[in-house]
Amino acid sequence: MSEPLLRVVDLQTWFQVSGMTAKAVSGVSLEVRAGEVLGIVGESGSGKSVTALSFIRLIPDPPGRIVAGEVWFKGRDLLKLPWDEVRKVRGREIGMIFQEPMTSLNPVFTIGMQVMEPLLFHYDLSRDEAWERAVQALDGVGIPDARARMGDYPHQFSGGMRQRVMIAMAMICDPAILIADEPTTALDVTIQAQVMELMLDLHRRRDGAAVVLITHDLAVIAETCSRVLVMYGGKVQEEAEVVELFERPLHPYTKGLMDSIPHVQDKGKRLATIRGNVPSIFDLPEGCKFCTRCPVVEPRCWTEEPPLREVAPGHRVRCHLVPGTPA
Ligand SMILES: Nc1ncnc2c1ncn2[C@@H]1O[C@H](COP(=O)(O)OP(=O)(O)OP(=O)(O)O)[C@@H](O)[C@H]1O
Ligand code: SF4
Ligand SMILES: [Mg+2]
Repeated sequence: MSEPLLRVVDLQTWFQVSGMTAKAVSGVSLEVRAGEVLGIVGESGSGKSVTALSFIRLIPDPPGRIVAGEVWFKGRDLLKLPWDEVRKVRGREIGMIFQEPMTSLNPVFTIGMQVMEPLLFHYDLSRDEAWERAVQALDGVGIPDARARMGDYPHQFSGGMRQRVMIAMAMICDPAILIADEPTTALDVTIQAQVMELMLDLHRRRDGAAVVLITHDLAVIAETCSRVLVMYGGKVQEEAEVVELFERPLHPYTKGLMDSIPHVQDKGKRLATIRGNVPSIFDLPEGCKFCTRCPVVEPRCWTEEPPLREVAPGHRVRCHLVPGTPA
């Protein structure tokens, strides 16, 4: 297999809040491969955004800190690079569409200025050249009459159009990796599918580029991703190719998530949900992070954290009850 685009080793990102430590990400290892759409799924608070923000060191410090780990990209560990080098990677090589689009555009600058900004920062372009490229980028994400809209301010755009602008900005430098954190959650349902399709279409046209798609929705993963990581309690609980995961989910948490996907034939029936609530980040169990909610919990689960083991090629699971491959 070819070298991954991005390789994360044992990432730990913690927050200090009121004298307590929140281990938001505790020991995540993963790979992002050329050409793939990698999904990261899990309930709210499972550590999806903090994991992705750590890749490009966008963790607010304080209260956050990347305590340990390695993030290898093009032969360099991004966690050890000087800040000016990290800024060159951000936006140019690794682009990000943030979870809160409404707060990611600056209300006092025109749309044109904001779309041009990454080009002017990363390339030696004249303002006229950057302007033309920005018009093309807005046109490419389906903003009607893009040239005339360059001078508008964000409040003059609808939510769906602002999200298209965010996609244009994140992709304008042709990044090798696009991180899309819940890119459509803030949009109307009718617009969600259009915006997702637009993003994936732009991705398909870029040879070898990868997308990391963060969502709490397994149905979105099924439709769009090739591989998926299931996160809970700041850790990867299961990882597999999408088809394998849907055909053979092994972790009780993954099974719970799958049971809560609505099916057409279930119309009118009560949906299964995972019992209990996500535990407080300050009070995660010592053993398996899912033990307070797991329907098949055993005594050892409370005290022993299971390792993430490979049970079939590319399929890794963190559960005491799933037999591993023979050594
Ligand atoms: N700036 C911060 N200060 C303190 N705690 C934080 C901060 N950012 C994240 N956390 C905590 O880290 C944990 C993981 O948060 P994260 O944002 O990664 O969750 P998520 O999986 O992306 O959830 P969601 O689906 O709601 O976006 C949460 O418990 C959250 O409260
Ligand atoms: S290790 Fe135990 S508590 Fe955790 S998912 Fe497996 S059976 Fe459930
Ligand atoms: Mg998030």
